[in-house]
Amino acid sequence: MDKILILDFGSQYTQLIARRVRELGVYSEIHPFSVPLVKVKAFDPKGIILSGSPASVYQPGAPLCDREVVEQGAPVLGICYGMGVIGGFYGGITARAERREYGRAELTIDDDSDLFSGLGGPLTVWMSHGDKLEEIPASFRRLAHTANAPFAAIRHRHQPLFAVQFHPEVAHTERGKDILRNFLFQVCGCAPNWRMRSFAEIAIERIRNEVGDGRVLCALSGGVDSSVTALLVHRAIGPRLTCVFVDNGLLRKGEGAQVQQTLGEHLGLNLISIDAQERFLTRLKGVVEPEEKRKIIGAEFIAVFEEESWRLGRFEYLAQGTLYPDVIESVSVQGPSVTIKSHHNVGGLPEQFDFRLIEPLRELFKDEVRELGKELGLPDAILWRQPFPGPGLAVRIIGEVTRARLDLLREADSIVEEEIAKAKLDRELWQAFAVLLPIKTVGVMGDERTYEHVIAIRAVTSLDGMTADWARLPYDLLQAIGSRIVSEVKGVNRVVYDISSKPPSTIEWE
Ligand code: XMP
Repeated sequence: MDKILILDFGSQYTQLIARRVRELGVYSEIHPFSVPLVKVKAFDPKGIILSGSPASVYQPGAPLCDREVVEQGAPVLGICYGMGVIGGFYGGITARAERREYGRAELTIDDDSDLFSGLGGPLTVWMSHGDKLEEIPASFRRLAHTANAPFAAIRHRHQPLFAVQFHPEVAHTERGKDILRNFLFQVCGCAPNWRMRSFAEIAIERIRNEVGDGRVLCALSGGVDSSVTALLVHRAIGPRLTCVFVDNGLLRKGEGAQVQQTLGEHLGLNLISIDAQERFLTRLKGVVEPEEKRKIIGAEFIAVFEEESWRLGRFEYLAQGTLYPDVIESVSVQGPSVTIKSHHNVGGLPEQFDFRLIEPLRELFKDEVRELGKELGLPDAILWRQPFPGPGLAVRIIGEVTRARLDLLREADSIVEEEIAKAKLDRELWQAFAVLLPIKTVGVMGDERTYEHVIAIRAVTSLDGMTADWARLPYDLLQAIGSRIVSEVKGVNRVVYDISSKPPSTIEWE
């Protein structure tokens, strides 16, 4: 299988480069910029891509790879900072640009024989840097320029070394994927023979090698990420994986039973369900402050999980479904100092336990995880489950969490879910759910005055949950949701729709 090596200098876009290469059907791996030549040779790449970086090449201590890595023989493409790295080895001069260039620029192609083959131009490209190559090394020639960057793309006259100042991997760069396609197929001579299936096979093999005859514990939430993680580990080591599902009583309607049925009975995972509803409710009694709720739920989860893991015996490994958007520091993706966004993980387990972590999804994006899950035979009901916060319905009940309020919200929420699915919008929305407000309002039902709860509907579109817009749901759908909730959920007499985007609001109300 043809392989591309991506050297990470810390750019926020490094994962996006890997993703584009995968989309083009080529296997890639991201390694730190400092990877030694012997490892590069052992990896045997068909091509190497140097990422961008927040650093500047002319600063002391700037991250650099070995020159031998660039000259090992396979073609190299330097992107943004990577251009400065390559240029620097051959006497090019990178300096702070007088005008920093962020955002769109128009690229004029001067030479379309390789990287820009078949692209014509001019092209709108995305720049994101404060530096530029001012002097091109004598052994290089120019392939393209912009008004502000005289050397926006260059190549070595004799060796297969290429560099671009802009970011071909981002969606804002017109035909950016075609530029990468030219690099992979024309320049490197890769064959597009990589599929998600290969990802699964490689991940399973890796887990098998790493775990040996050890045992792995996995906290299943019922969402797609932890389910796919568990399935990969299950394929690798079978019954030596134990999955624990904690029913904290803050789940959506029917969720516990579904997890049990699909993952336990249907897919055959070794699954232990723990009914901890009472424990969580008792701890949440009287608590209204959102962060306090989160802390209590996180701590209680750890307590339950810890007790259970003691009871089950010794586990050397913990499998977690961390995705790329959860990984804050891109430079350490494969390095020693991985940082995990604890907010998005179940209670920040790693710090508490003496486990070694297995995170097979940490380079993937959500849609890729779904593709992988499909490959592994996960049913649609789980594949397309919307993201659900660790603290569950507790952060969708504004004010105190009680069993009665949970039951009420669960009913309202299941109506939202049903109607959205009926309208076939479930795959287009990032999330759609009900929120229970801590106020009562007056209504009239029959000839009677009512004084009851308000449900807010939240439906958003988003790519990664970091930013979001409120969904323009059709009026008929809103009407169906509203009237069903008021007539079917006892204790509710009003439904409102949330029209806030993130930022400045957040997706969840707490
Ligand atoms: P916010 O509300 O911050 O949510 O805009 C962004 C995304 O993250 C989810 N979320 C959480 N997930 N633990 C989680 O595992 C949490 O405490 C948490 N808070 C929010 C939220 O559902 C949305 O998809």
